[in-house]
Amino acid sequence: MAVDPLIELRDVNKYYGQLHVLRDINLTVGRGEVVVVIGPSGSGKSTLCRTINRLETIESGRIAIDGRPLPEEGKGLAQLRAEVGMVFQSFNLFAHRTVLANVSLAQLKVRKRKKDEADRRSRELLERVGLASHADKFPAQLSGGQQQRVAIARALAMDPKALLFDEPTSALDPEMINEVLEVMQQLARDGMTMVVVTHEMGFARSAANRVVFMADGRIVEDRTPEAFFTAPESDRAKDFLSKILKH
Ligand SMILES: Nc1ncnc2c1ncn2[C@@H]1O[C@H](COP(=O)(O)OP(=O)(O)OP(=O)(O)O)[C@@H](O)[C@H]1O
Ligand SMILES: [Mg+2]
Repeated sequence: MAVDPLIELRDVNKYYGQLHVLRDINLTVGRGEVVVVIGPSGSGKSTLCRTINRLETIESGRIAIDGRPLPEEGKGLAQLRAEVGMVFQSFNLFAHRTVLANVSLAQLKVRKRKKDEADRRSRELLERVGLASHADKFPAQLSGGQQQRVAIARALAMDPKALLFDEPTSALDPEMINEVLEVMQQLARDGMTMVVVTHEMGFARSAANRVVFMADGRIVEDRTPEAFFTAPESDRAKDFLSKILKH
């Protein structure tokens, strides 16, 4: 792939008190690229995602989106959060608002769209994630997989340059995992730049351009899925794969 960097981390270090959670992280995600991040619990995967849209600050190093350093605060930060959407394990939908209103809300507040325009866009996106007929329901009336697809539609409504996913399917019952992964696969095919923390190795194999393996706050391997899964280089990755591929 031609290198057209959209997300760049250079020598990034992050501490929680004494705990050194991100160690000399260097990572470039090209435009249109899908990077899957895997690694043992506590290795820093969520923290990595959270630093990219500045839900967490860093102690040293640089992070840039589309060539621009992350803004410190204020308006620039709200803009950044719109440009780099994030989808979490817990969907964080507003319970007292309809599905449509959930998808429209930030369009009104952040993108300053008119209500008609926002709702029109929301319906398009709900169609895209297979939920057109659920627009007027409340989140509690939907399954977990459906709620997560609403969360994805909501992130897409900001017209993000990139999307970060932190274990988007790990709170879901098995039968709902695929419907969410299929939406993500489609986004990948449509050229969305994505960083995805997941234990779904099938998704990593089929959708990722690269797999980043983290351990103890470091990126230990950064390779194609094919190379990573067939011939992991580090003992940490071999050990990790032997554990997760057993079940
Ligand atoms: N807000 C916080 N304050 C203090 N320590 C934290 C905080 N958030 C995470 N940590 C610690 O930082 C380390 C990295 O956490 P992180 O959540 O990034 O790991 P992870 O790879 O996402 O793990 P998991 O697979 O369990 O989600 C862990 O040791 C964790 O306990
Ligand atoms: Mg995590």
